[in-house]
Amino acid sequence: MLIHSREELRENIRKWRNTQAKIGLVPTMGALHEGHLSLVRQSLEECDKTVVSIFVNPIQFGPGEDFSRYPRTLDADVALLEKMVGEERDRLIVFSPDAETMYSPGFCTHVVVGGPALPLEGEKRPGHFQGVATVVLKLMLMTQADMAYFGQKDFQQAAVILRMVEDLDVPVCVKVCPIIREEDGLAMSSRNRYLSPEGRKQATVLYESLSLAEQLLRAGERHAPTLERNILEILHKKYEKEQVNYIERVDYVNFVDPKTLESVTEIGSSVVILLAVYVDGTRLIDNFFIDNL
Ligand code: PAJ
Repeated sequence: MLIHSREELRENIRKWRNTQAKIGLVPTMGALHEGHLSLVRQSLEECDKTVVSIFVNPIQFGPGEDFSRYPRTLDADVALLEKMVGEERDRLIVFSPDAETMYSPGFCTHVVVGGPALPLEGEKRPGHFQGVATVVLKLMLMTQADMAYFGQKDFQQAAVILRMVEDLDVPVCVKVCPIIREEDGLAMSSRNRYLSPEGRKQATVLYESLSLAEQLLRAGERHAPTLERNILEILHKKYEKEQVNYIERVDYVNFVDPKTLESVTEIGSSVVILLAVYVDGTRLIDNFFIDNL
């Protein structure tokens, strides 16, 4: 069922709550792919009812970012979700508010997370996590969700949400689900739609460089700066080999502590490698979470 207004959402949530239904929330910005659908599947398995929100959240985009050209494919998204639930239509609400519904005139309250929100994306995209945390908390309150599902694809985002939920005692259990990838390793992303055919080929370099770093790490190399240099070398070698200017910029490559997101130099028993790279003019992010070292 597709809902646009807060009143209609509230009414449905009230009915669900009256039957003690367990409610799952899957926040998205739409242009759904298998990565999003894996979260919905998980919620449908674990909860009685699921709300999938589809909202391209203006306040998490910086000036000059892709807010206006972000793909908006509501009809196709709803069709995918309806196909997924089949006969069990009453178990799913698609909540697709417009910006005025989420941010009524005079809106001026924001959630600011410190710690894991500060480095990496926090540094490169000022205000981004404030926009994410604000909308996610609003969605959690609006849906009164028991569970909320996020992808490891946005590792730092998940860490920020976990921190916020812990710090503000939000009564919701956050689940972080594995990254869904294309066959050649590229992490699925709505932004992959921006890539030209050549850019799409070039984009596999993210996965290739992360895989090599993991190999070296498991073979005993524990010095993060050395591994970072190896990753950068692969990024640049691919660029030279293809003789095209697809990788215009490496925003960051970093080895961090999985919880605090602080940089590590000597790697211990677990680590996350995070990277953000421009390919073909599109900013792509990816990460490997590596443990049992
Ligand atoms: P969006 O980019 O649409 O992603 C919605 C959710 O899907 C996020 O939790 C994201 O991590 C997850 N996801 C995306 N690609 C994935 C993949 N390949 N494998 C697994 N999960 C994947 O992230 C956002 O929207 C927004 O910031 C949002 C949380 C909705 C707040 O506006």
